[in-house]
Amino acid sequence: MSAYLPPDALDRPFDPKEFNPEVLQGQYQEITNLLLASHCGIKAIKTKLEILSDEMQIQDQRNPIEYIRSRIKSFDSIVGKLQRRGFPVTVESARRELYDIAGVRVVCAFVDDIYRIANMLAAQSDVKLLLVKDYIRNPKPSGYRSYHMIVEVPVYFSNHSEQVRVEVQIRTIAMDFWATLEHQLNYKRGLDADGEIARKLRACADSIAGTDREMQVIRDMVDSLDPPQEGLDPIKMMAKVANIVGTPAIEREKEGR
Ligand code: GTP
Ligand code: MG
Repeated sequence: MSAYLPPDALDRPFDPKEFNPEVLQGQYQEITNLLLASHCGIKAIKTKLEILSDEMQIQDQRNPIEYIRSRIKSFDSIVGKLQRRGFPVTVESARRELYDIAGVRVVCAFVDDIYRIANMLAAQSDVKLLLVKDYIRNPKPSGYRSYHMIVEVPVYFSNHSEQVRVEVQIRTIAMDFWATLEHQLNYKRGLDADGEIARKLRACADSIAGTDREMQVIRDMVDSLDPPQEGLDPIKMMAKVANIVGTPAIEREKEGR
């Protein structure tokens, strides 16, 4: 498992410190192209998610996306995964066999937000859905929960375009809390899956899932207290838009332009 960068970190196309010149010798141009494509694939997906988030903030008066993180799989992880799975260590095989070189993680407030976001993304005409792993309905034996999608998006360069694969992991804040701590505790230790620690971690994951379900019930109760208004107050609407796009819209309105 490769670490995701903190939310404010730049996506890094490539860290030369990780480069082991003995593997993938002579494929420098191909490596550069793969990392650039992954970087741009992440940007394309993030932009799509940010657009959905902006729209929902205005339409629904709430933000289902808490934050988005992304990472490019480290060079060592790419080589390690190819070797572990018995594939040739070449850029061509990394492109063909690995689905998670570009990764985007979306952290949502409530469980139903996960499915809304996933469906909206998959419905876009330039997004090709290749694979879904619903670890919310079918949690992993560790207790891990998240909704995973492998999608392909087009990226346009100066003289060609490419379909880039991106792994999108969508989870609630609670699922992210568990996964982050479990990753810290378990990373590289390979805890015994039947041992007491693993059992306790599973119990925490189940209890967190119960809390997520309860929070969803509370959200639905709050929503039913407050049925959607017929027409929104235009001033409030403008203020909301200004918050997202900046102030010009509201300034122009005031000046009568
Ligand atoms: P990887 O080689 O880890 O990418 O596994 P995979 O290609 O078989 O995909 P899988 O769907 O199992 O998981 C992909 C990603 O989900 C991992 O890289 C982690 O980010 C996350 N993940 C899966 N299982 C666990 C888990 O038990 N604990 C935590 N913390 N994260 C997990
Ligand atoms: Mg992975």
